[in-house]
Amino acid sequence: VKGFVSLVGAGPGDPDLLTLKAVRRLRKADLVLFDALVSPRLRRLAPRGRWFCVGKRAGTLGFSQDAIHRLLIKAARRGQRVVRLKGGDPFVFGRGGEEALALAAAGVPFEVVPGVTAATAAPALAGIPVTHRGLVSGFVVVSGHAEAAFRPVLEGLPPHAATVVVLMGLTLRATLASVLLGRGWEPRTPAAILQAAASRGARSWLGRLQELGTAELPLPGAPGTIVVGRVVSLAGVLGASQGAATGADAEPGSLRSTR
Ligand SMILES: C[S@@+](CC[C@H](N)C(=O)[O-])C[C@H]1O[C@@H](n2cnc3c(N)ncnc32)[C@H](O)[C@@H]1O
Repeated sequence: VKGFVSLVGAGPGDPDLLTLKAVRRLRKADLVLFDALVSPRLRRLAPRGRWFCVGKRAGTLGFSQDAIHRLLIKAARRGQRVVRLKGGDPFVFGRGGEEALALAAAGVPFEVVPGVTAATAAPALAGIPVTHRGLVSGFVVVSGHAEAAFRPVLEGLPPHAATVVVLMGLTLRATLASVLLGRGWEPRTPAAILQAAASRGARSWLGRLQELGTAELPLPGAPGTIVVGRVVSLAGVLGASQGAATGADAEPGSLRSTR
């Protein structure tokens, strides 16, 4: 096989949060296969490559995982330099592992270019450190897509032992909250919903675990990251002063809170 596939993390949305390696791979790419959540602002970084969306977009089902594997393998066998561009980090709920396995099985040379995951970047940009000395010494990241996936993880976690970060969890936020409350978490534990992080339209909801289930979404229909834990209380201080400190370089609106 003459071609090469790079499984590249695109970060949470702001092109400035791409890695230098990601930018180099994009510049040289013949073909960029991207997901729906990847920011259109990244396109100018791969001027010579053909861009092709394989993700789910409004009204379309997107490509099956098998079809994506076939596209990657075919393009590489044709000798192309392919970038498989995924939001955040390719190996965090991005099915990048499956694509790497398919490429390895087909004998296609590939690499992984890690990205900045929304799991830590969305909280950081809102002024929430996921760990903080004296408050909490760990964090867990779960998929909130299916109760069967997150319930066993959250039930195995003693209350307040770690910050809980949930991706894809907005639809089941009431279930998530009731699992944590049932496990003995303090109802007044600070909680946040962070949407469109690292973009100009970023919005957040800040409240308490007991209100998470009924929280009104700042951006209905948009994906978001949920954070539960004492560290969320730092958002009030660090969110505001972070904006002030970065001054003109700050993305306008990236720290705006609706509550
Ligand atoms: C399929 S997962 C992929 C995660 C990605 N691989 C990563 O490492 O960030 C998509 C989920 O990531 C979270 N997410 C991605 N981009 C986000 C952003 N800009 N702001 C807030 N949450 C985001 C949301 O929970 C969304 O449902």
